[in-house]
Amino acid sequence: MNSEKVICPCRKVTKGDLIKAVEQGAESFKEVKKLTKVASACGKCKKEAKKITEGLLREREEKEGLQKSKVSRQDGCACEGESVKKTVVITGATDGIGRALALLLAKDYHLALCGRNENKMQELLRELEETNPTGHFFGRCFDITKDEKRHEFCETVTAEFETVDIVVNNAGANTKKDRVTDIAPEDLRYMFELNCVSALGIIQEFYPVMLRQKQQREHGKDHRNAGLFINILSTCCLYHTPMTGSYSATKHAMEALSKILLKEVKNEGIGVCSVYPGGTDTNFRAAPNPEYLRPETVAKMIKACMETEEGCIHDIVIRPPVEDNIP
Ligand SMILES: NC(=O)c1ccc[n+]([C@@H]2O[C@H](COP(=O)([O-])OP(=O)(O)OC[C@H]3O[C@@H](n4cnc5c(N)ncnc54)[C@H](OP(=O)(O)O)[C@@H]3O)[C@@H](O)[C@H]2O)c1
Repeated sequence: MNSEKVICPCRKVTKGDLIKAVEQGAESFKEVKKLTKVASACGKCKKEAKKITEGLLREREEKEGLQKSKVSRQDGCACEGESVKKTVVITGATDGIGRALALLLAKDYHLALCGRNENKMQELLRELEETNPTGHFFGRCFDITKDEKRHEFCETVTAEFETVDIVVNNAGANTKKDRVTDIAPEDLRYMFELNCVSALGIIQEFYPVMLRQKQQREHGKDHRNAGLFINILSTCCLYHTPMTGSYSATKHAMEALSKILLKEVKNEGIGVCSVYPGGTDTNFRAAPNPEYLRPETVAKMIKACMETEEGCIHDIVIRPPVEDNIP
C-alpha cells in the first residue's frame, strides 16, 4: 500500500501518518491515536488504522528482537532465554564416539569437526546437514599429530565461528600393543603425539580464545562460564592392563594434564571434564564386541556434562557391565 494513500473515505488519515507515529516510538494504538488524526476519523477509518498499526508494531518488535540477538552473538553471548547456539569443537569426529557425539549435538550446537578420512567426513557432514539443514557445520581432515595442520585448523575455526565454547579432545588410538619390555621408543613417541601432545596443542590453541570471550562477556556484564574442555581418556587410567603399556602411559599423561588444567583454569571460568570410557564398540577395537558400550551411550554422557545447569562435572567413568576392571 502506498504510504500517502488514505485508509478510508473520510480522508483524514494516511498510512504514512501511522508509520510516522510508530517511528516516533508509539507503543500502542492508543498512543498512535494521540499522535495522528485517527481520534477524529470515522469508525471505518479507525478500524483500518488499528489493523495497520498493529502490523507496524509487530514488525518493529520483530526487527528489534533480531538486532538484539545479532548484538549478543557478536559478543559471544548466549544469555539465558536467548537461543544463541554454542560452538563445540570435536576432534576425531569421523568415527566412533566423536561421530556419535556430533550427530547427537547437530540440532542444538554449531559444530567444528576434524578427523583424518575425507570420505568419512563428507558422509558425516551430509548426515549432519540432513539432521539440521540450518546448522553451521565445519569439517577438516588432517593428521592431528602435525603441529602446523592442527594450528591451521584451530585458526580457521576461530575465524569461522563467533565463539568457541566447548572443546572435546577425542581423537585417539591404541595401535601399538606390546609388552613393556618390547615397546619401541618410536611407537611410544607416536602414541604420545596422538593421545597426549595433540590434545594439549588443541587446549593451548583454544584457551586464549575462551579467555578473550570471557573478557568480552564481562564487558557486557555476562558472567557465564568462559568455556569447557572435555578430555576423552580411558578406564586404562584407573586400572593397569598388560599389553597396553604405550597407550596407557599416554592416557595417564593426558589424565595428569587434564586434572592439573582443571585446577589452573577453574578461577578463570573455564571447566575441565575428564571422561573415562570402558570398552566401547567402535573401530578403535580390532573386532566388534556387542557386549561393549555403544558409542551413542558414551556420547549421551558427554552431552549431559555439557548441559549441566550448575557447576562443572569433573569426571565421567562409564563401563559396560561385562567389564570387571574396577580398581
Ligand atoms: N573404543 C574404546 O573402547 C575406547 C575406550 C576408552 C577410551 N577410548 C577413547 O575414546 C576416543 C575415541 O575412540 P573411538 O573408540 O571412538 O575410536 P575410533 O572409532 O577409532 O575413532 C577415532 C577417531 O580419531 C581419529 N583419529 C585417529 N588418529 C588420528 C590422527 N592421527 N589424526 C586425526 N584424527 C585421528 C579417527 O579419524 P579417522 O576415522 O578419520 O581415521 C576417528 O575419527 C579415543 O581417545 C580413545 O582412546 C575408546
